[in-house]
Amino acid sequence: METVSILDKQFVPYLSAEEIQEKVALLAQQFNQEYAGKKPLFLSILNGSFLFTADLFKKLTIDAEVCFVKLASYKGVSSTGNVITAIGLDTNLKDRHVIILEDIIDTGKTLHHFLPQLQSLQVASLKIAVLLNKTEALAYPVKVDYACFDIPNKFVVGYGLDYDGLGRNYDAIYQLK
Ligand code: IMP
Ligand code: MG
Repeated sequence: METVSILDKQFVPYLSAEEIQEKVALLAQQFNQEYAGKKPLFLSILNGSFLFTADLFKKLTIDAEVCFVKLASYKGVSSTGNVITAIGLDTNLKDRHVIILEDIIDTGKTLHHFLPQLQSLQVASLKIAVLLNKTEALAYPVKVDYACFDIPNKFVVGYGLDYDGLGRNYDAIYQLK
């Protein structure tokens, strides 16, 4: 793997495609065991999670569904500030075992604001699975249930993650130089 340039920045190799595939396969195995007979619903958060979701989902051997949503934030009328809504959520979540799939959790702000809405839909269970967990950056009380990698608080691109819209196409992950 070599250094890559995206716009004005340089990135160095951080996680190889092989390492990523290995961890994603292990996570899929775990879901195959823990969710057998439960027909879980994977709720993939766009855009960043599309490759992670595709690779994970291909490795499932149990009955499972997937749906894709985009989170949009707008200023709520309440004083608490941001409200997050899910665009494209067309599946009934009531009594379902839901697993959120996120590319990366950074401060946890987005999920922190989104989770109460999901919980209000009377799901049977709700878990969070992330490819990358920036543990040091977490600033909101969000519990990550499954993480493929714990990573330091440095900007990364590749495997679905972008820098200003670019870099999502790499099958490896690169760190800001
Ligand atoms: P949070 O709400 O602070 O947890 O932010 C999560 C979102 O920020 C992710 O879904 C990403 O879209 C974006 N993000 C955070 N860190 C990175 C990074 O290192 N590279 C690319 N996107 C990132
Ligand atoms: Mg994202």
